[in-house]
Amino acid sequence: MHMKILFVTSEAHPLIKTGGLADVSNSLPRALSALRQDVRLVMPAYRCITTDERPRPLFSSHTARGDSYRLLETRLPGTRIPVYLVDIPMLYDRPGGPYADEHGRDWPDNAHRFAAFADVVAQLTGPARLSGWQPDILHCNDWQTGLVPVILRDKPHPPVLFTIHNLAYQGIFAREWFERLGLDDTLWSMHALEFYGSFSFMKGGLVYADWITTVSPTYADEIMRPEFGCGLEGVLQSRADRLSGILNGIDTTAWDPRHDPLIAQTYNARKLSDKRVNRDALCRHFGIEVGTGPLCGSIGRLVWQKGIDLIIDLLPELLTEGWRFVFLGSGETDIENRLCDLARQFPGRLGVEIGYHERLAHLIEAGADIFVMPSRFEPCGMNQMYSMRYGTPPVVRRTGGLADTVSCANGGGDGQDITGFCFDEPNADALRAALRQAAESFSDRRRWQQIMRNAMRREFGWRSSARQYLARYQALLRQ
Ligand code: ADP
Ligand code: GLC
Repeated sequence: MHMKILFVTSEAHPLIKTGGLADVSNSLPRALSALRQDVRLVMPAYRCITTDERPRPLFSSHTARGDSYRLLETRLPGTRIPVYLVDIPMLYDRPGGPYADEHGRDWPDNAHRFAAFADVVAQLTGPARLSGWQPDILHCNDWQTGLVPVILRDKPHPPVLFTIHNLAYQGIFAREWFERLGLDDTLWSMHALEFYGSFSFMKGGLVYADWITTVSPTYADEIMRPEFGCGLEGVLQSRADRLSGILNGIDTTAWDPRHDPLIAQTYNARKLSDKRVNRDALCRHFGIEVGTGPLCGSIGRLVWQKGIDLIIDLLPELLTEGWRFVFLGSGETDIENRLCDLARQFPGRLGVEIGYHERLAHLIEAGADIFVMPSRFEPCGMNQMYSMRYGTPPVVRRTGGLADTVSCANGGGDGQDITGFCFDEPNADALRAALRQAAESFSDRRRWQQIMRNAMRREFGWRSSARQYLARYQALLRQ
């Protein structure tokens, strides 16, 4: 059965990306399209979007809340998949990122920005909007789209599937915004949007969507517990019969060491020696000394979630022993400063690049020996999958998608299926033990090559997960 799916998202690679949501918003629609579904994206027309096809205006209109907008159309680069851009210059045409300004401060009118986006999406579900193209399914993602099912709740509408990519970002706003947005008073209730005296866009999505998914089965279980539920565990428990976990896949074309144009030397599981060329290039990039021990890499947002502070606590000890690390990321100033200070203390051992660099991210995946991802929580995580595909076994905390994708040496597996190393407690001692275990394996060349090959052979594509989404859409349509 062919379905018309409107994929509602606040970012999509390569148009605009701040994290894994953008990766998924690119690769899942492609996978659905490969399964012959008619999928289209809709997102805000931020100034920072880069398109390879000039967006063309479709029509102008205004929302029920009174925002005038133009709807533009472009394509997901390299595909025929339409992308609708909601153009409201007053809200989206500004410097900085999609959620925050150049200094990382959230836009003060984010409630308005994403309420207006939801208003337009709700209008697009009507019959006459997109030259007769009316979606059968709305697939919403994260808090930025949380008001979509709220707005549609008492109108006839296509089923809404809402995906949680990260429960820690909820779109919580003060009562004043509730009034300014003119939201119905009945929504100010603990059973609706109200959340500890404020209100939450994410909660709107969770309460009013027809089905909720999150991006790994383990995270789907975790978020029903206070430790991971960010205050929404009760809401999620009440919807447990409509919540499931579907593991993210990766874009296996963009992330393929056999054909990656962004790395120094392509390679495959049969010729692992070629990977070394990438390690040399990575060392040169950061001015890292040649050594005999493993070179560890890390990429990502430098925030509490990612547990980078746990590695930082260990760095003085490990670097003194001769370990070598490279970090690429940006985020909290304190974490950035601590890393940069240590890089000055340990030249030749520690390389730190603050910023966002696509090419360097690929080189780190290819050139590091071990990838480190000690997240306190991780709904899915993309980087550990990229690293396994690049034969760079990850050291991860056993949580969320990390638990679902990495087969750990200390998880009872045998040598034939180990793809990485895990630890459980979110502290530096546990991470140290896992790193030492990885280093010990690294020193046994045959064992290490076996682990690299196991990791590279793993199937992380979208085929199976895209089919699970399809089955869920179909079940929703039947209901
Ligand atoms: P999250 O979405 O929580 O940030 P994920 O692991 O799901 O974490 O996805 C992060 C994505 O963003 C990956 O594709 C990763 O390579 C990319 N990324 C994160 N930080 C950087 C950076 N500083 N430079 C380049 N790519 C980055
Ligand atoms: C979020 C999560 C990350 C996940 C990504 C894509 O940003 O933090 O774990 O991989 O979304 O679903």
